[in-house]
Amino acid sequence: MALIFLPARTEEAIAAIATMARTIWYEYYVPLIGRAQVDYMVARFQSTEAMQQQVLEGYEYFTVQREVAPIGYVAIKADDDGGLFISKLYLLREARGGGTGRAIMAFIEEGARQRGLGRLWLTVNKGNPAVKAYERLGFRIAAPIVMDIGGGFVMDDFRMEKVLE
Ligand SMILES: CC(C)(COP(=O)(O)OP(=O)(O)OC[C@H]1O[C@@H](n2cnc3c(N)ncnc32)[C@H](O)[C@@H]1OP(=O)(O)O)[C@@H](O)C(=O)NCCC(=O)NCCS
Repeated sequence: MALIFLPARTEEAIAAIATMARTIWYEYYVPLIGRAQVDYMVARFQSTEAMQQQVLEGYEYFTVQREVAPIGYVAIKADDDGGLFISKLYLLREARGGGTGRAIMAFIEEGARQRGLGRLWLTVNKGNPAVKAYERLGFRIAAPIVMDIGGGFVMDDFRMEKVLE
């Protein structure tokens, strides 16, 4: 069944993503990074206000739908170096697997090519099984990246890249 990618430009659309973000983050990330860090990161990066600020800075958010049902969200931003940063790629639990992530990546890749960008990159928690999924999708680990995000927390990630042929 085809996926629909709806650009999220209104406050209502961003607020709906914030609700979905809370569901996904508390379900998926508490076992990975702990509740305190999820509390901090959701408030700091995935509140409606935080995402509206990101949109002003050039991030493009999309609601991913299967027919009329929202199943996840994506945020991307072109960098200054010919690459496309995949800032967010999160699916609700019931939407994972079965090639949904692969189909979303094809959409992102197509958008990058249309903009003449030659590389995709993202950061992902070192302990997140998504590292393996990204490898299956043609990404490679480029470097470890440890980022102080304030509040006494760090993001302990890999930077992963995919060169577009
Ligand atoms: C990461 C995510 C977007 C991938 O989407 P998905 O629908 O689960 O992935 P797909 O079913 O399209 O799988 C893509 C490929 O990765 C593989 N894969 C997926 N999850 C995997 C896992 N946990 N371990 C190993 N391989 C995995 C699949 O087998 C598939 O490879 P194949 O087509 O060669 O068989 C999704 O699982 C998700 O939202 N996870 C929770 C949030 C998250 O971690 N987001 C990433 C933050 S950086």
